[in-house]
Amino acid sequence: MCGIVGYIGLKDAREILLNGLEKMEYRGYDSAGLAMRNADGVHVFKEKGRIADLRRVVDESVQATTGIGHTRWATHGAPSRENAHPHQSVSGRFTLVHNGVIENYEQLKREYLLDVPLKSDTDTEVIVQLIELFANEGLDTEAAFRKTLQLLKGSYALALLDREQAETIFAAKNKSPLLVGLGEDFNVVASDAMAMIQVTDQFVELMDKEVVIVTKEKVIIQNLAGEEMKRAPYTAELDAGDIEKGTYPHYMLKEIDEQPLVMRKIIQAYQNDQEQLTVDQSIVQAVNAADRLYIIACGTSYHAGLVGKKYLEAIANIPTEVHVASEFVYDMPLLSKKPLFIFISQSGETADSRAVLVKVKELGYQALTITNVQGSTLSREADYTLLLHAGPEIAVASTKAYTAQISVLAILAGAVAESRGLKLPFSLTQELGIVANAMEVLCDAKEEFEQMARDYLATTRNCFFIGRALDYYVSLESALKLKEISYIQAEGFAGGELKHGTIALIEEGTPVIALATQESVNLNIRGNVKEVAARGANTCVISMKGLESEDDRYVIPAVHELLTPLVSIIPMQLIAYYAALHRNCDVDKPRNLAKSVTVE
Ligand code: F6R
Repeated sequence: MCGIVGYIGLKDAREILLNGLEKMEYRGYDSAGLAMRNADGVHVFKEKGRIADLRRVVDESVQATTGIGHTRWATHGAPSRENAHPHQSVSGRFTLVHNGVIENYEQLKREYLLDVPLKSDTDTEVIVQLIELFANEGLDTEAAFRKTLQLLKGSYALALLDREQAETIFAAKNKSPLLVGLGEDFNVVASDAMAMIQVTDQFVELMDKEVVIVTKEKVIIQNLAGEEMKRAPYTAELDAGDIEKGTYPHYMLKEIDEQPLVMRKIIQAYQNDQEQLTVDQSIVQAVNAADRLYIIACGTSYHAGLVGKKYLEAIANIPTEVHVASEFVYDMPLLSKKPLFIFISQSGETADSRAVLVKVKELGYQALTITNVQGSTLSREADYTLLLHAGPEIAVASTKAYTAQISVLAILAGAVAESRGLKLPFSLTQELGIVANAMEVLCDAKEEFEQMARDYLATTRNCFFIGRALDYYVSLESALKLKEISYIQAEGFAGGELKHGTIALIEEGTPVIALATQESVNLNIRGNVKEVAARGANTCVISMKGLESEDDRYVIPAVHELLTPLVSIIPMQLIAYYAALHRNCDVDKPRNLAKSVTVE
């Protein structure tokens, strides 16, 4: 989703801003722009499409040491140059970039801006025009900015330039992410530490409804009443190399390949001195104090949550529900007496999940966030955090975060079971080690999966993934992976459920990819495969060593039955990757999607 960068210092801002925007490309966007302030005034460049398109329209002769930039993911108004940010006030004095959604912008337009000719369809332009209106009424920029913020309902991260106050960037945030990066003789603002990690690793978090006044020497954080807030910086543990593709053609492939390494990092991060996997005891106590767990997540993280429910129930004996955040927030079920909420979010910024977090905190409940991003909004606002240690995930389609989420959920379930005297019948450390090795075998078998993508998905319009028990949950994730990057209509289905209606869609040649890794339902899923094959489906079975049948297309190495989702997803990720590649799709940046979904 939209991303913001800003730089104020001694160097030429243009490359720093463009590089920062490029680092945020993975978040998803459809247009981009930047504004640079120098002695001649403020120069604005914007373009529909990619940062490469923006680069083409930026006038390289413009030198400036202050600037702001933006990637836009359209919400109000089509993706176009007019609607791209930065937006300027009527006189051109103020220039603004915005991430978020202003819910009352129509009302503000009617109330304050009837005489102002607006140039775009965006909610953002209303903000910059209001700032100018209040400045024209005699307020200084800070006061006009603050007065405007007080009128806004919704989410925003903002960076503002004032032509008449060249040495300052004004920024503010509410619900949308924004960080300030600190340097010597310069300071920056960014939606994401990754955007500015090339220039600094020292960042200060901003809280909701805070304003920050940034000059090259100083950063002053204030609340909306203008009171100064003190906050220590933190070091962002990001390696600039982590966010490079290296020799890989796509981030997605790199991230699929990183999964064995991530597994080993997780084992290391969660091992105690006795080499047992565990989590902080305060988290174990919070789980034990709950009578029911509510996992809240979206998309791939929701699918990881489904597997997590199985672990928390089967290993730790705690009733657990899993809910899609965007539904839960408006349609909350009857809650138990002592619920604990577990938010699963790779980015830690997903607005739908955050809306639930805000609501359950208002109700006085405790929350744990499982996230890949330290210091992210969901992590900050929950009572407890468990980190994924997966390293930055750049491809829009989530891969290594999914397996990391499942692993951390298994470790959480194991730690809670241990505290309850429920002895695990296996060593999780050892079993996750076996998983890491099996993952490696699968990552090395790319050619097989590329061939499968050719054999089953080269020309098809649709595809079904089926499985039972844990394999069903992996089928849901497999279908999501395929549809989001290859645009093939795909459905994940419980094997036994097809005959209750959906089997009507099976015709000659329809690809049906079945997972068979669960002993208790092995015969049942094979029966389901026969049902669809009899109706003409082009079937493909991926099974696990020990459960295989003669005609299985691929047999994955054996891992503990509960941990199969960690390995069985890898062939599916690779099949989706190659199907998208063969269809010339933009694998890392699929259409209409964003990495960090910061609007509800
Ligand atoms: C799909 C995908 C999305 C995310 C979802 C939640 O590959 O990545 O479905 O899982 O948007 O995002 P997070 O986990 O950041 O809350």
